Amino acid sequence: MLEYQNRIQSVLDEALSNTDVPERLRQAMRYSTLSGGKRFRALLVYAAGTALNVSLKRLDSVAAALECIHAYSLIHDDLPAMDDDDLRRGVPTSHIKFDEATAILAGDALQTLAFELIACDKSGLSDAQSRAICLKLATSSGQIGMVGGQILDILATDQALERSSLENIHRRKTGALINAAVICGALCSDSVSANQLKQFEHYADAIGLAFQVVDDVLDIESSTEELGKPSGSDLEMGKSTYPALIGLQESKKLATKLYKESVVSIASIGDNTRLLEDLAKLVVERTK
Ligand code: IPE
Ligand code: IPE
Ligand code: MG
Ligand code: MG
Ligand code: MG
Repeated sequence: MLEYQNRIQSVLDEALSNTDVPERLRQAMRYSTLSGGKRFRALLVYAAGTALNVSLKRLDSVAAALECIHAYSLIHDDLPAMDDDDLRRGVPTSHIKFDEATAILAGDALQTLAFELIACDKSGLSDAQSRAICLKLATSSGQIGMVGGQILDILATDQALERSSLENIHRRKTGALINAAVICGALCSDSVSANQLKQFEHYADAIGLAFQVVDDVLDIESSTEELGKPSGSDLEMGKSTYPALIGLQESKKLATKLYKESVVSIASIGDNTRLLEDLAKLVVERTK
């Protein structure tokens, strides 16, 4: 994993080095994107692609695009109008380090950069592949995906939800982009079959939901120091979470069940699914 983390770091560094960008904007974009993080979504792109024997070079732009969308979502998620958090990845959030206007604009620019990276990719993706990847990324991150989930999350503040409603929020605000990472990685293959895409979908949907369930658990059980973001933020904000709804133990059980389902889903994809399996395990075993 370290190898892939180092790889995405240098791909992102390069992608964020356009000197034509106004300096303050460029600084803010680099600050939030290059300052660490697990790189889980980029790793998923590499994992799904390499499971189908796609070269790493061909996966680089798509992996970077996923991390740009993710970084944008975090910058906006932390804004005073949303979760109002002041720490992210162990450093002050964008609006604290810079200011709110700069943070909003850095998020905006990271979002559009993601699509630019895919459209300009020179690693051999066909026009049809680029279009399919852009479409998947747009729908997963936009109105019916992550952004749609974020507004439901806000509307659910201080509300008692049905379990199905909470699941819907989590699948959208977090699951959708994780699904996009896996599917976009797979779409970089020239020969992925409809059946394989279905298996990837099952895998991604399971770990996508598990990822946010574990995020909710860690908000309670882990420390600010370990998380690099404020622990206890959900309780303070009155967020609807799995531990609040079904308790910590049931939440952990659910995450484990989803992990097991995810591994079964990809069992027949091929010999090269080790990284996908390791990443699924990381979702449930992580402490940050
Ligand atoms: C945090 O995502 C936001 C959620 C969707 C839960 P990560 O836990 O992947 O954050 P980084 O990228 O490692 O900082
Ligand atoms: C974030 O959910 C989902 C996003 C789309 C960013 P959270 O609000 O729980 O993420 P953290 O805990 O701040 O990273
Ligand atoms: Mg949030
Ligand atoms: Mg948040
Ligand atoms: Mg959280």
